[in-house]
Amino acid sequence: MNTEVGKDLEKVKVLLDNGSTVAIPTETVYGLAANGRNPEAISKIYLAKQRPLSNPLILHYKDAKAAFNDVLNVPKNAKILAEKFWPGPLTMLLEKKSLVPDAVTAGKPRVAVRVPAHKTCQQLLQKLSYPVAAPSANIYGRISPTCVDHVKDQLNTRIPYILDGGPCSKGIESTIIGFDQEKIMIYRLGSVTIEDILSSTNAEVFYVESDAQIEKAPITSGMVKHHYAPNTPMFSSEDLNTSLDLSNCGYIGFDLLHPDFPTSNQFLLDETGLIDAAASQLYRAFHIMDAKRFKHLYITWLPDKGIGRSINDRIKRAIQKNKP
Ligand code: TXA
Ligand code: MG
Repeated sequence: MNTEVGKDLEKVKVLLDNGSTVAIPTETVYGLAANGRNPEAISKIYLAKQRPLSNPLILHYKDAKAAFNDVLNVPKNAKILAEKFWPGPLTMLLEKKSLVPDAVTAGKPRVAVRVPAHKTCQQLLQKLSYPVAAPSANIYGRISPTCVDHVKDQLNTRIPYILDGGPCSKGIESTIIGFDQEKIMIYRLGSVTIEDILSSTNAEVFYVESDAQIEKAPITSGMVKHHYAPNTPMFSSEDLNTSLDLSNCGYIGFDLLHPDFPTSNQFLLDETGLIDAAASQLYRAFHIMDAKRFKHLYITWLPDKGIGRSINDRIKRAIQKNKP
């Protein structure tokens, strides 16, 4: 199957109505979409991505009303956060109604729901009579795609169509939260920050991060170590041994070049020091620097607040535990 790239929403609708997969843009990363009411279509997502069937998918809706219509009850804080951050990069885990196929949730009682903000994605969702199930449009365990070329690199010939919506403005995945009585649990840090959530509700907010807990029960696979990693071994620049020959090593910095690496081996996330811009470039930097086939890659930590914390979370998952 040859993968076509285009902007034909009518064609995408027909493909999805007929049970095909299609890669679609969102403001976070590209998703690999299928009809969220059709288990057979959903199984094609798992096949194309080589994703374990135990790992559930996010359902994408045109608006909050449609999303909340698929769940049994909507906590007060879910309403408040939907009001504030939808459409946008926030995903909520809520108790599913039986009309949500088990194929979406991998048999789990909660379903992940989100209303994306990307204009083209919204135009598509408005045309459909069902939500679309969509994980990030990468091969399982690889880097999430933030433009059409990244999707093509990984899924070419595995899917019929990529809907071109340009580069993703946010560049890292949505924030995933759940509710435990009055508490808000953050399961994946993303484009909506802890600070954003704290300032929107009076709820206690917990970040479920502990490694021990992750190994016992991965609540979302984004928590499993060594996700989001380039193929080239990557290390924190804190662990740089300056006696190494760096002529064959790459460096990903924030706004400043590193004095010890050749300039041509470096990628700056945002020379002007804007953290949102740095987030939108992170996976692009991974893709570009990975393609250069350096022996090692080094990366700097970002200021650990707001989106910087979400970026550091992705870096933590991508770097190797052993020092170079
Ligand atoms: O920004 C995003 O969230 C992108 C775009 C395409 O929307 N999607 C995305 O999907 O990152 P994915 O599948 O790559 O990551 C979603 C995470 C996975 O780690 C999955 O295990 C978790 O959400 N998840 C989905 N449904 C869940 C559920 N019912 N219970 C627990 N975890 C769930
Ligand atoms: Mg993913």
